[in-house]
Amino acid sequence: MRPSEEEALALHRKYGSHEATIRHCKTVAKVSMILAEELKRRGKKVDSGAILAGALLHDIGRTRTQTVRHGVEGSEILKDEGVDQDVLLIVRRHVGAGISPEEAKALGFPDLGYVPRTTEEAVVCFADKMVDADRVRPFEEEVKRFVRKGHDVPRLLALRERVRSELGQDPEALIFDKIKASG
Ligand SMILES: [Fe+2]
Repeated sequence: MRPSEEEALALHRKYGSHEATIRHCKTVAKVSMILAEELKRRGKKVDSGAILAGALLHDIGRTRTQTVRHGVEGSEILKDEGVDQDVLLIVRRHVGAGISPEEAKALGFPDLGYVPRTTEEAVVCFADKMVDADRVRPFEEEVKRFVRKGHDVPRLLALRERVRSELGQDPEALIFDKIKASG
């Protein structure tokens, strides 16, 4: 099934997500939909229902763990709930700028893919990187966080570049423009 906004929020309540997690997910959904609408406007085929459900549910696995495993845990919760595979994949692949097969193996993750592949997966992964708690903030802050944590900065920049090339414009400028316009 493809959860509606209401159904996604009901799943958060069922699994006991913190209010802060739900607020974060709603903000990531708002940013994701700005990107989805612009992609559509440019004539790209995007599944905005999958993006909305995936963005709203991307951190549901935090009810089980706060580690990088929350993506795979979230996708397992949603699988048990009968949620569509495309939504599960958005959730499983949103962590960091993707987790490489080597890293996933070292972490002892099941042998599944953890790198965003589809546009829908890349959109939600990128939107999440633009949001700290429920605040939309400059991408540069995420780059600095990656540097501090010793994460793979080129992978993060490649994620932005991928979204930029599909959008045909800088996603960050678009997001801030639309948020300002919506008040
Ligand atoms: Fe997350």
